Amino acid sequence: MDLNTRLQNVTVIGAAGKMGSGIALLLALELAYRALENKDRTYILNLVDVSDVSLQGLVRYLREQAVKDAEKQMSRLRRLYADRRDLVENGEMIEAFASEVLLHVRTGKTMVLAQDSTLVFEAAFEKEELKIGIYKDLAALCPREMYILTNTSSIPLHVLSEAAGMTGRVIGYHFYNPPAVQKLLEIITPDVCDTELQELAGELAKVLRKTVVSSNDIAGFIGNGHFMRDGLHGIREVERLAGEHGFTKAVYFVNKTSRDWLLRPMGIFQLIDYVGIDVFQLILRVMDKYLNDGLHSPLIDRYLELGVKGGQTSSGTQKDGFLKYEKGAIVGIYDPDKQAYVPLDGTWDKEADAQLGDHPDPALSWKSLQGDPDLETKLRSYFSNFETKPTLGARLATDYFRASRAASQRLVEAGVAKHAEDVNKVLTLGFFHLYGPINDHLD
Ligand SMILES: NC(=O)c1ccc[n+]([C@@H]2O[C@H](COP(=O)([O-])OP(=O)(O)OC[C@H]3O[C@@H](n4cnc5c(N)ncnc54)[C@H](O)[C@@H]3O)[C@@H](O)[C@H]2O)c1
Repeated sequence: MDLNTRLQNVTVIGAAGKMGSGIALLLALELAYRALENKDRTYILNLVDVSDVSLQGLVRYLREQAVKDAEKQMSRLRRLYADRRDLVENGEMIEAFASEVLLHVRTGKTMVLAQDSTLVFEAAFEKEELKIGIYKDLAALCPREMYILTNTSSIPLHVLSEAAGMTGRVIGYHFYNPPAVQKLLEIITPDVCDTELQELAGELAKVLRKTVVSSNDIAGFIGNGHFMRDGLHGIREVERLAGEHGFTKAVYFVNKTSRDWLLRPMGIFQLIDYVGIDVFQLILRVMDKYLNDGLHSPLIDRYLELGVKGGQTSSGTQKDGFLKYEKGAIVGIYDPDKQAYVPLDGTWDKEADAQLGDHPDPALSWKSLQGDPDLETKLRSYFSNFETKPTLGARLATDYFRASRAASQRLVEAGVAKHAEDVNKVLTLGFFHLYGPINDHLD
């Protein structure tokens, strides 16, 4: 069955969630354009979630985003609406397109909506039993040719497909957040996977204009395979430094050096907060179950026991976690012993800055190097300062750099990634790093 035929009836499960809504948007736009180009065909997008309120919000979101997309596609819309004499102004075409997008959408709480689908995207919670239950329901309801493309970010695909009796019919389609914007798509192909499904997954990625990195079916895949180990290194560093410097200063040191010294968009604790400490724990647990590689952190467990979770509010603002935020800026660090945030008040944090020492090149930052044509040369010269100015900051950053590189190399050695370049692509595209972790900028 070709892709266009499969796209005539598609389902997204968990459609109102963070990832599901983005996947729903990508598909809703694609189906609307296809419907305008193939007038003899019908296209249906079933959006299934367990919450009515969230589904209503999803429809509103799809409409708003359809308007935004249409505004950027006026020449395409003029061509597609050439036979619509009633549509003259841009605004009329934009409105017509927004209505077209919603025309193909059906929302509901019941899986029965999926019964005619031959292509299902699954983006429900990261829980093995939940996903298996969903797949069993789908297998019982849908045609035999139905394939599942799952957004799981850690659970091995063969575990899910075998348990659901769908071996060969499930593939990992790991969008990055937000799916409509992020270019990277990690495709995880289990050992047993229908050739048709593999080809279809690749073809669809091209249609959606994604850059594909292939990953093997090993828990955590490339993205979380690196992130979890990177995070655990940061936590171990805090535990090591806390004895001499105290806990909050240790978190300050590690967050600051992993951001400013390594020229990353966020420090490691900011990133864990962004993803959610609870999500971080969940993924660690899945990976630990399958890899038995010491992927566990009592500190993460303690934060969660104290109710400190990070993550975002429904309006997208950052919730407090390891760090406290005000208008996006870091203003404090959580001390689990005091069960309170210690504010960055210009006293102890100033002292911490002095202890870290001068930044190797204050003119350089992740932001200032965006799109720089001389990036490679500048990075090389930047990292060469680390050895000549062995401050505490440079030492911590060097250790961090090496740990990140070692974790990445292990992903290649363990066969999670086929090539070093794949790990580098995931970190640069998926995590917006300026450089891939496997490089020779430092010994
Ligand atoms: N958030 C990320 O940055 C990210 C990135 C890549 C992959 N993922 C993966 O994507 C998946 C979804 O993650 P998320 O962050 O969007 O989670 P989320 O909590 O925002 O969304 C999950 C959605 O699934 C729905 N749901 C739960 N049970 C359901 C059921 N039985 N039937 C239908 N819908 C159900 C929930 O109501 C919710 O809307 C997970 O597998 C996660 O690991 C997340």
